[in-house]
Amino acid sequence: MKRGLILALIAALLLSLMPAALGEEISYVGTVTGGSLHMRKEPTPSGKVLATYKSGTEVDILENDGIWCKVQKGNKTGYMMAQYLTITANYPHLGWGKTPADGALINVHQRPDGESLILYKGISGGAFELVALENHWYKVRIGNQFGYLPVDLITPFEGEFTLGYSPSAASPINAADLKSALREIGNPRTMSRSDGLFTYSFTWPDLGLAAADQAMSKWVQDTLDLFETDHQAHHAQQAAHCQMEYQALKVDDAHQSVLLLAEYTVDRLTVQRMFALNVNAETGEILIGKQLFTAFDQVFLSLESALSGLMGIPCDGYTGKADASWLEYAILTREGLACYLPAGLCLPPALGTQRLLIPWDQIASSVSFHSPLVSKYIRTIDPTKPMIALTFDDGPSEHTERILNVLKEYGGKATFCVQGMNVEKYADVVRRAVAEGHEIASHTWNHKKLTEVSASTVRSQLQRTNDIVKEVTGGYEIRVLRPPYGSTNKSVRNICAEMNMVIAHWKVDTLDWDTRSTSKTYRAIIRGAENGVIVLCHDLYSSTAAAIEQAVPELVEKGYQLVTVSELLSFHKDGAQPGTVYAYLDPENIRTE
Ligand code: NI
Repeated sequence: MKRGLILALIAALLLSLMPAALGEEISYVGTVTGGSLHMRKEPTPSGKVLATYKSGTEVDILENDGIWCKVQKGNKTGYMMAQYLTITANYPHLGWGKTPADGALINVHQRPDGESLILYKGISGGAFELVALENHWYKVRIGNQFGYLPVDLITPFEGEFTLGYSPSAASPINAADLKSALREIGNPRTMSRSDGLFTYSFTWPDLGLAAADQAMSKWVQDTLDLFETDHQAHHAQQAAHCQMEYQALKVDDAHQSVLLLAEYTVDRLTVQRMFALNVNAETGEILIGKQLFTAFDQVFLSLESALSGLMGIPCDGYTGKADASWLEYAILTREGLACYLPAGLCLPPALGTQRLLIPWDQIASSVSFHSPLVSKYIRTIDPTKPMIALTFDDGPSEHTERILNVLKEYGGKATFCVQGMNVEKYADVVRRAVAEGHEIASHTWNHKKLTEVSASTVRSQLQRTNDIVKEVTGGYEIRVLRPPYGSTNKSVRNICAEMNMVIAHWKVDTLDWDTRSTSKTYRAIIRGAENGVIVLCHDLYSSTAAAIEQAVPELVEKGYQLVTVSELLSFHKDGAQPGTVYAYLDPENIRTE
């Protein structure tokens, strides 16, 4: 082949690549971390190695599916594993903005011009990352794409911003998934149109329950209106199809749940709209979103921990704090609460619609309805039977989880008197303890003897610890102080009273910190076991963890209920008084009725 022809071919090839390359902005940079990394020709571990780059090398990222990044380095283009790249966005991050949650459609445009191409369609209420403000338009990011929204549609909000989620662990939910979903109750109703540019096929259930059926019919009609109006206004010359599918479950003898999902596709753009409904078939009562619960801390904590399971491999995205809007599309299932998080509303748009399942045992005490599926997990303490409060000071540590494991197995609860300075390092342990119903108490920030420091130091030792626990758990309020060395005085008691905290001493001292002996610690617990006692241990030692593994089954076998300090004191006939020291609950003071 002649050189001229080859050059012409190369030029033609380059030109054919140009439009894509020119139109794209390089928005992400990946830095090779933790050793050298291959660039492969194909996105598979057996792909041909094109080059190998040292730790610290920066590459431009062209595409990222969460597992493989298509990257460019100099004149080489290939694939690298996303998990070995630290990915940073190469554009300004102005913050996050939300669109008003009025149920309307949001069109993200290619240019700051309402007549320009629509790049993305979403339901209002969604969160967008803001990267620039140009005249009266915000430039926003959706996954690896940029677009524009009018300024008056955006309300900036404070969200936590992190880089990292894994689309691979999180295949988005779509209408096709629901088409094959369980339909245990109701008679299917259908509505469709197959001629013209705007076509649709809807199926949804008739439950034979007036209020529920009415609510669904109204939603079906609103959905049709919304999409038809959008089609007329923005895509009248293009073919568009709207599909609606559903899941309908019999949850228990009384409860039924339905999820409706409508998906509208025009010009390769898809937008989803959902409706979730839970109904008591015996009373006709409808429960939607927040109405399913009487308390939310535990529910939000569980949602956030389920979400962290979805996030992983470095990618773009953010994690927000769970709030009531996350429950809007929650349905009851036999396994737990299924929360559908719509694309772009609670999670980054690029993650699509996701489903988080929260098992009933995690949230049983927060639900507002009665169901045998849930009530078997509701904790009941019988004050006519003996109670013991095990407490663990100075942690958390690497041994705390062993103690949590045995308590979980035997259904016992305990109190972990943490030093504030350890909490960040063991944040997962603290969250797990709270999620499993244990109590977190304060053992000061760094083990200060409170009788030997100023009042302001006492205050800051307590406040800092309360604050860090509240932060890592998303709202947990400490109500108990275990003062180091058991040292208190009037000033400490007054400060605790102001801060609404009781002071817990102990009746049984295992001396585990001194003996470091599994058998001695175990014997101290079993010998000291008596109704109403508070037992002092330290979750710093493997010898203590081993002693607890022996003692817990035995205490349960003997009929003791393992309770937290606050649970124990809640049975005090005079109530637990903030600022008061309790070493045990005298059985004579137990309120049994
Ligand atoms: Ni201590």
